[in-house]
Amino acid sequence: MTQPYPHGVVNGADSVTGIVLKAMSRTPDPRLAQIMASLVKHLHAFVREARPTEEEFEAAIDFLVRVGKATGPEKNEMILLADLLGVSTLVVMLNNEQGKGETDPALLGPFWRAKSPLCRPGESIARDAKGGEPLEVRGHVAGVDGKPIAGAIVDVWQASPVGLYENQDPEQPDHNLRGRFETDAEGRFHFRTVRPAGYPVPVDGPCGEMLRAQDRHPYRPAHIHFMISKEGYRTLITQVFANDDDCIASDVVFGVTPALSGKFERVAGGWKLAYDFVMQPGTRRIPKPPLP
Ligand code: BEZ
Ligand code: FE
Repeated sequence: MTQPYPHGVVNGADSVTGIVLKAMSRTPDPRLAQIMASLVKHLHAFVREARPTEEEFEAAIDFLVRVGKATGPEKNEMILLADLLGVSTLVVMLNNEQGKGETDPALLGPFWRAKSPLCRPGESIARDAKGGEPLEVRGHVAGVDGKPIAGAIVDVWQASPVGLYENQDPEQPDHNLRGRFETDAEGRFHFRTVRPAGYPVPVDGPCGEMLRAQDRHPYRPAHIHFMISKEGYRTLITQVFANDDDCIASDVVFGVTPALSGKFERVAGGWKLAYDFVMQPGTRRIPKPPLP
């Protein structure tokens, strides 16, 4: 058993934070020690400022328990909560440089699946024939030095014209509206799809309750997700949004930046989107998929 460590006993509200920090002060992992000390300081400061009643504290615990229970193979309510509180966007912004010419990042979201089908250039990711307005997407991938990046994997996923991802909708075939493309020698890729619709985030769980209690709408503007990866470059995870969407300035999960507003252009027979991506040098890292 770990030796008892005399961090002291509580003597009034003002003593609690220091005693908890002392109790944790032997944490061997320095990063864990730093994160936990910061968490306790800020959490205690929050409690001092908000002064929850005991009933409110019970309700908060119950809320978090229900967030855990609502999480499963179909839905990750914990990620959704982080998204709705702006935490996912903040983490993304703090971990990716901006303003040096690279493409703005955006949150991964809960619907990415690893190993979607590898597609030929120009192939359609609309794997069912049911409706939707045709959309052709063309892009170019370069480094911050302006040189094209050949052989990058461009992983794309999007919601359907009714605003559902294939894993949310039994009507859609497996991997519908998902695919991976490789950039050519000039760093270009293109694919065909159908125009995605904006959609509400799932509101059937505790996160939906929170939005209703805050009088917030649950919508994301129509968008296409991109994850672009290649050895030697920092993986670029982002989204390109339809600039004509009513919710472009009120994304419920705060993913939109001015530069990520893409121009969906009407053309004969459908729509066209052209968007160029710029990657920073760095380490290729593929995230843990939120869904199997
Ligand atoms: C998405 O873009 O797929 C998404 C992001 C956050 C919450 C729900 C969905
Ligand atoms: Fe999405």
